[in-house]
Amino acid sequence: MNTLDEMLQMACNAMDKAYVPYSGFRVGAVIKAQSGKLYAGCNVENAAYPTGSCAEQGAISAMILGGDTKIQEIVVMGNGENLVSPCGACRQRIREFATADTIIHICDRNGIRKSMTLDELLPVSFGPENLKC
Ligand code: THU
Repeated sequence: MNTLDEMLQMACNAMDKAYVPYSGFRVGAVIKAQSGKLYAGCNVENAAYPTGSCAEQGAISAMILGGDTKIQEIVVMGNGENLVSPCGACRQRIREFATADTIIHICDRNGIRKSMTLDELLPVSFGPENLKC
């Protein structure tokens, strides 16, 4: 299995594990880090709704714990007619560990629906370099 297929399979498995009693909307995310290691996350909701966390957040936490800090590409997977593109907060979370060329694959269980660079998804973004004055 090639790496992208492996990422898609892991994202499917992450969707199955999502804890979504409130929205019923399952999301899986899988990061390929610069080391080549893969990290998965799923969304985890909460009875106090705003304290739930997105799938991308979980994958980023796993990546940091795994010793990686650079996202090479990321798969975000969910159901529905509309593209499950990362929410605004998650675009910024990805931005912290990405470059302008980092690829975000927006997927459903059948595979990739649209691939975009971080710069396309979050243009003129604010990141760690902006703090250097
Ligand atoms: N969700 C994600 O996990 N990632 C996104 O980028 C968009 C939204 C989750 C949060 C919530 O559990 C559910 O999808 C509905 O908003």
